[in-house]
Amino acid sequence: MEPLGCGTILLTAVLSLTVFYFMWNHLYKRHKLPPGPTPLPLIGNLLQVRNGEMAKTLMELGKQYGPVYTFYFGPNPVVVFCGYEAVKEALVDNGDDFIGRGRQPTVDRVFQGYGLMASEGNRWKQLRRFSLSTLRHFGLGKRSINERIKEECSYLVEELRSYNELEFDPATIISKAVSNVISSVVFGSRFHYDDAKFHRMLDIFYETFELMSSTWGQIQDMIPMIMNHIPGPHQKITTLLEELNDFVAERVQMNLKTLDVNDPRDYIDCFLIKMQEEKDNPDSEFNMRNLILTLNNLFFAGGETVATTLKHGFLLLLKYPDIQAKIHEEIDHVIGRDCHPNIEDRSKMPYTDAVIHEIQRFSNVIPMNAPHSTTRDTEFRGYTIPKGTGVCALLSSVLEDPKYFATAHKFNPNHFLDSEGKFQRNDAFIPFSIGKRMCLGEGLARTELFLFLTSILQNFVLTSQTQFSDSDIYPRMTGFANVPIPYQVAFVSR
Ligand code: HEM
Repeated sequence: MEPLGCGTILLTAVLSLTVFYFMWNHLYKRHKLPPGPTPLPLIGNLLQVRNGEMAKTLMELGKQYGPVYTFYFGPNPVVVFCGYEAVKEALVDNGDDFIGRGRQPTVDRVFQGYGLMASEGNRWKQLRRFSLSTLRHFGLGKRSINERIKEECSYLVEELRSYNELEFDPATIISKAVSNVISSVVFGSRFHYDDAKFHRMLDIFYETFELMSSTWGQIQDMIPMIMNHIPGPHQKITTLLEELNDFVAERVQMNLKTLDVNDPRDYIDCFLIKMQEEKDNPDSEFNMRNLILTLNNLFFAGGETVATTLKHGFLLLLKYPDIQAKIHEEIDHVIGRDCHPNIEDRSKMPYTDAVIHEIQRFSNVIPMNAPHSTTRDTEFRGYTIPKGTGVCALLSSVLEDPKYFATAHKFNPNHFLDSEGKFQRNDAFIPFSIGKRMCLGEGLARTELFLFLTSILQNFVLTSQTQFSDSDIYPRMTGFANVPIPYQVAFVSR
């Protein structure tokens, strides 16, 4: 090609890009959205994400732009709220405006607005009300769930004993025990730890989590209109979630065949009965699609969150044997060595309760919260946020808010103790989020954390050959979830 021809093409390309850029800039500034870093066409603020660490990047930008700013996921603006005051003002004081569910392109192709987690409006209200009351009936905060968890604690203690005080990575066995609690509530029974189907189900959770958190998954969440059409490992997320749906659907069919409307055995039975009751109501959301996708949600939301918190907790107790020793002392004093721990013991164990709160604060499992969106055009601190705009209430910015936690970057149970050693609440403790859309399983999760931790420490001292450094105990960000480093531990009988 003639050099003049090349020059002309280059000049035209540069001019077009410049015009496109200025048009884009003009367009996005027309919104009265909060300020934020300047986005690029199509990819938004993708290049601002440092080392693939989204939550950390958003925390840093909060320092630069203040507690309310706009970050572009591709061409879509997301309003980010940082620190306790801004998050509470959005999710609680103006809760109804921010109660919508934001996009999560890695999984949206499977859920398509169905199931409890992804739904909005009337569908969400029906599924949420039903799930809360049903899980309560089967034991959220009630005795029967206490019994189910206690049963699982006994199996877990047995299993840990079988390692004969040798060091091993506890990740898989903790995931199995926690998933069995949700299985017991949803399917009415637990799985044997060696069950092949159970293993496959856990593999699906793990792989999906990994892929959603991988660079591929994160880029897909930022620019789905491009990534949805590009081959790559992220495409497998849909296949995996559909396999999980098939597995769950099989269990639903088993329940259908043996259903006794007068004697519901589990969450599935209750949902099937509700479906029959409402079969003539055209507005009812109780149908197979919502059942299967809600079951999928319960397993995902209720499994790895609790398991990751426990895994992180054990790592922290290895790092701080003095804290572990104080919990041992409290267990011996309040529960003794012979009785199984009960949830009623928690109120008599302020130190253990404070340590569990601090484990949750420090491990900061869902740092960016689940995505929200605005349900109508919303005025907030002088800005106008249009209906349907994405919202990120940055939980890590609250759990590390220095106004509420004296040593926010240190593991310090005193954050939850007063000068007399009594348990002390802290408003900024919101690992389960706040407002009407907050975690549905808070009660179940808190009961599990207390009973698993106390049952294990009643029986064992946790030891390791490794000296963990300050950096080792800090959570590792993997996409939308935080996880601890892999580590080995020995459970030595007391
Ligand atoms: C330590 C454990 C857990 C943590 C840190 C956690 C955290 C969260 C967070 C941050 C959200 C998003 C709330 C929002 O959108 O504002 C959420 C939602 C949810 N969680 Fe949990 N969760 C935990 C355990 C559980 C358990 C055990 C269950 C099982 C019942 C569960 C079921 C759900 C469901 C169904 C939702 C969606 C609620 C909705 O959209 O209305 N979670 N959780």
